[in-house]
Amino acid sequence: MTASRTTADGVLADRYGRVARDLRVSLTDKCNLRCTYCMPAEGLPWLAGPQLLTDDEIVRLVGVAVRRLGVTEVRFTGGEPLIRPGLPGIVAAVAALSPRPRISLTTNGIGLARLAPALRSAGLDRVNVSLDTLDRDRFAALTRRDRHHDVLAGLAGAADAGLTPVKINAVLMRGVNDDEAPELLRFALAHGYELRFIEQMPLDAQHGWDRSTMVTADEILAALRAEFALRPDPAERGAAPAETWLVDDGPARVGVIASVTRPFCGDCDRTRLTADGQVRNCLFATDESDLRAALRAGADDEDLARRWRAAMWGKRAGHGIDDPTFLQPVRPMSAIGG
Ligand SMILES: C[S@@+](CC[C@H](N)C(=O)[O-])C[C@H]1O[C@@H](n2cnc3c(N)ncnc32)[C@H](O)[C@@H]1O
Ligand code: SF4
Repeated sequence: MTASRTTADGVLADRYGRVARDLRVSLTDKCNLRCTYCMPAEGLPWLAGPQLLTDDEIVRLVGVAVRRLGVTEVRFTGGEPLIRPGLPGIVAAVAALSPRPRISLTTNGIGLARLAPALRSAGLDRVNVSLDTLDRDRFAALTRRDRHHDVLAGLAGAADAGLTPVKINAVLMRGVNDDEAPELLRFALAHGYELRFIEQMPLDAQHGWDRSTMVTADEILAALRAEFALRPDPAERGAAPAETWLVDDGPARVGVIASVTRPFCGDCDRTRLTADGQVRNCLFATDESDLRAALRAGADDEDLARRWRAAMWGKRAGHGIDDPTFLQPVRPMSAIGG
């Protein structure tokens, strides 16, 4: 099949046979926390207002993805998506698309206690809340803000509003919170949240990631097995980034997203749109396709769809973190959308 024939077809296919159905949309590169593994204390040079897609532009591009490109899952992220004032309206407009995609949100949870009911009414299906520690002082040191209580309240508010299953994302850092794996799991089980550990990736703005000191999936699993019986989840994994285990024979589960030590690129079904309207075919891509310029120059939906297909066709087979030629992308995770 030639590239030109493929990019004229419907879905977001690449030359390795993968099809992207899961769209991650970054709503802002700004954040109200400063997690040490993500951004420096002073923050980053944020995108300027006119560079950001407007709410209408986001809805238009998500509409192209859903109606013309076969996207069935839309996840809003950032930066911190809850600080975007138009979020409930964007969710409502995306929920009104036909076919209706499943809609989720990745958030640090600050403000979620207040916003969860409105987001649920707007059509949000579920949330992932990031929480790396159960200790308030550690949280303040790790995120450089004393907001632990707001995150716990956000988790509870999400569950009360029915944004379930509520998932927790946790990143373990050596010498900081790597002793907390079993405690985080006990907390999740006690509240009915689903816990996922994410291996730290080379996506921080400060380039502080170190392969030799990162906490690996094997270490996380060994720590959990000291207290819990883990059995591989019999459910089909599909394109899910998390490998999951049944805890003490289930039905509760725990997951590990081992992007570094157990890469899952061969099954990846994700495509990404940054807050300034760039399509990225991978978190680790080193190039982007500018849909904002095309959109603002008057491109019609089919032209936008064609550009998106072409961007995905060039997706690489894998992220190549272990390759000696690996280059960390210029944009950090907070600006790509995690
Ligand atoms: C970039 S954040 C954006 C959404 C929101 N601000 C949050 O923290 O959930 C998305 C997820 O990426 C994770 N993350 C950030 N930097 C990371 C890194 N270098 N390696 C692995 N995960 C990272 C965060 O812990 C969070 O769960
Ligand atoms: S991980 Fe999320 S909450 Fe933490 S600084 Fe990055 S964008 Fe903000």
